[in-house]
Amino acid sequence: MNSTIETRATDGSAGARGPAPYYRDELYGLLSRARLENPVYYDPELDYWIVTRYADVIAILNDQENYTAENVTQRPIPMHPDAMRILEEGGFSPSPSQASIAPPHHTRIRAATNAILNIKTFAVLEADIRRLTIEALDRLEGHSRVDLLADFTYELPAQVIFLVLGIPSQDTQNVKRWAGNRTLIDFSPSTYEQQIEGAKGLVQYWKYCKSMVQDRMENRRGDFTSRLLDWRNGDDAILTLNEIATLTYSLMFAGHETTTNQLTNAFRELMIQRQAWDAICADPSLVPNAVEEMFRLVGSVIHWRRRTRREVELAGIRLPAGANIMLSFAGANRDGSVFPEPDRADVGRANARRHLSLGSGIHVCAGAQLARLEMKIVFEEMTRRYPDMHLAPGAPVEHLHTYVFRAPTSLWVDLGKPRLPN
Ligand code: HEM
Repeated sequence: MNSTIETRATDGSAGARGPAPYYRDELYGLLSRARLENPVYYDPELDYWIVTRYADVIAILNDQENYTAENVTQRPIPMHPDAMRILEEGGFSPSPSQASIAPPHHTRIRAATNAILNIKTFAVLEADIRRLTIEALDRLEGHSRVDLLADFTYELPAQVIFLVLGIPSQDTQNVKRWAGNRTLIDFSPSTYEQQIEGAKGLVQYWKYCKSMVQDRMENRRGDFTSRLLDWRNGDDAILTLNEIATLTYSLMFAGHETTTNQLTNAFRELMIQRQAWDAICADPSLVPNAVEEMFRLVGSVIHWRRRTRREVELAGIRLPAGANIMLSFAGANRDGSVFPEPDRADVGRANARRHLSLGSGIHVCAGAQLARLEMKIVFEEMTRRYPDMHLAPGAPVEHLHTYVFRAPTSLWVDLGKPRLPN
């Protein structure tokens, strides 16, 4: 069994900035206190204003006039010149990411991705997702204690999105490693060594995406890149080739890292709040709402960013134009004025789906329906096969030192006796 994941095995100590406990379990308590006492507060370590109330977060996500998304992929610390040189010399030159651009640019790009990332494409994947899930569960057989991240949730979402991207299975490990490089460089306060290694990885990653575009120009294969080329129809005003390489690069990250973390967080929480796990084992019809409840309670994107376009007032505080804002999904999703008993996992919660873990407004997650489908199938198959699963006693869970994602580095569980597949 694969029990170590190199790109995740970071202690984050050197280079990690400040004491901000966003990657620890105290996260939720800290945000809840802030929401009551100080709903918009400045974190000097991050140089961001943290917004914790549901009403403020959803309003900002839907307000393109006063806020821009241009900082969503801004690196938390400037890259070291040595790492920058590696990127420049390697020809690393993606276009601005879809998540960070404003209309009308965003409208043009979103139209292209919506034409492919939609219910029709995702529904076709259902049988494959179930097959891949069952195969992954079969590989756990014979092992009583496993690291559920390394041995199950790490690869599965990548295998699914690679069906959309047309990436052969032998490239899975490379792409996962590059995605790990990107998490460290773009979303974590990375060390010098991580930046150097990460920059080398990003150069390979970008070259891989460019070569996919080149290849699909000659041989269309019906995959994401091929369909973007069809959509482009040779017209740079619709999409440039660099934009297609960038969209491929983005999907190769957004389409699985988040789902890997979401599944891992959800399994951990369901083991901790055992009554919720037992409820879905007893009644599988509760699974779709349990998926939403896990998005709400332990979403894998805990913060997402915006910047003020002009002076604004938030919770009685005046913020100048150009202020960096961290929208705390982790805070908003536990706002008791919207979700009663917010810390409790209630798989029957009537409004669980109002969570903000997939965003809202024009940038709302383009893969939301796929993420939901994957979670649903995985929960169905896991509850059927391993209803007695428990957290392994005494195995601590560490998280990557990023304030954007909630990303465990391991999840040790005792599987219990498998039930026979029916
Ligand atoms: C658990 C899984 C996932 C989570 C938690 C998640 C979360 C998010 C969030 C928070 C955003 C930004 C929303 C906003 O600014 O309002 C986003 C955007 C995006 N996501 Fe996801 N995502 C997940 C899975 C996926 C998958 C599976 C795909 C691809 C199939 C995907 C593709 C995208 C894309 C392309 C965008 C950019 C949308 C735009 O700016 O127009 N995501 N996601």
